[in-house]
Amino acid sequence: MTQIHPDLEHFNPVTVIGAGTIGLSWATLFLAHGLTVRIYDPRPDLKEVADHHFDSIGSTLTLLNLPSSGFESRLSLESDLQQAVTGAAVIQENGPEKLVLKQTLFADIEKYIEPHTLLLSSSSTIPASDISASMKDKSRMLIGHPFNPPLVMPLVEVVPGKSTSKEAIEDALVFYKALGKAPQHIQKEVFGFVANRLQFAMLREAMYLVDEGVVAMEDVDEIVKDSIGLRWAAAGPMLGMHLGGGQGGMESFMRHLGPTMEKSWAVQGNLILDEETISRLAAKSRDSYGYATIDELAHTRDQKQMAILNLRS
Ligand SMILES: NC(=O)c1ccc[n+]([C@@H]2O[C@H](COP(=O)([O-])OP(=O)(O)OC[C@H]3O[C@@H](n4cnc5c(N)ncnc54)[C@H](O)[C@@H]3O)[C@@H](O)[C@H]2O)c1
Repeated sequence: MTQIHPDLEHFNPVTVIGAGTIGLSWATLFLAHGLTVRIYDPRPDLKEVADHHFDSIGSTLTLLNLPSSGFESRLSLESDLQQAVTGAAVIQENGPEKLVLKQTLFADIEKYIEPHTLLLSSSSTIPASDISASMKDKSRMLIGHPFNPPLVMPLVEVVPGKSTSKEAIEDALVFYKALGKAPQHIQKEVFGFVANRLQFAMLREAMYLVDEGVVAMEDVDEIVKDSIGLRWAAAGPMLGMHLGGGQGGMESFMRHLGPTMEKSWAVQGNLILDEETISRLAAKSRDSYGYATIDELAHTRDQKQMAILNLRS
């Protein structure tokens, strides 16, 4: 039987709302740490989707040194929201990234739960103050935003809303730490939080350069893996910049390369994702990555990411 971390005992059972990419990955992490998990999703093919996921995730769990069997007795699939959330200690929501849907979902969930239930949303961009707008008690609701896939990636951005209590923030940090994650308490609510704002700034330029024919899509991957990605995995962007300034550090870097950076910011692309742009970039992605299935590509990515994580630790 899988041992539960003592800090996780009062966070059991967990309900995972939404059985897409993120929900199923969280569910796997929770199960592998011995928690009892209910997955709720209104999709009619919930069982097929869950079976496909759990049949293919074993090798990633093994790479993570986590148990990969014995989940069945602690896992249930639910198509009824009330049944799914009643008695849950934690709810991790992973429905579509739509404000009104999330607002309605949390207002509905509130009808069936105990006041102490910890309410977490995986939202990539929408602040907790907006998602909890229709709730009566907003004190236990906050963002627990993972990086895909949450089973593998350490970061979880813990972003409280204006009405989130200190206890709920502390509980979220304890919960994610006990699951082996690296939660970061983000101090102020902004759309997109931190990791995605940084990521999207860079993706905007990468997509623009590919669309303009400056560089092939798969070559962007190589360029980043061999330079920025490697440096940032070791030092992060800000320390990287500080070190780029030599003995004068960050100040020297800004005085020396500041004007060049400003010129570069001024010429950066501002792609509009209209239908034609999406079609052009999608066609390029099929040319670049069509040699393998998404499952195969994701498996290779997980293996490499685990190797890097193991080296780091
Ligand atoms: N994909 C990512 O890289 C990523 C990373 C971090 C966070 N997130 C966030 O996680 C959440 C889920 O993203 P995803 O990529 O897993 O999406 P997804 O489209 O893969 O999955 C969403 C799931 O929600 C289900 N759903 C639809 N209506 C629902 C409802 N009313 N109640 C409950 N479930 C419902 C769908 O059937 C689907 O299975 C989003 O808020 C997203 O911003 C995504």
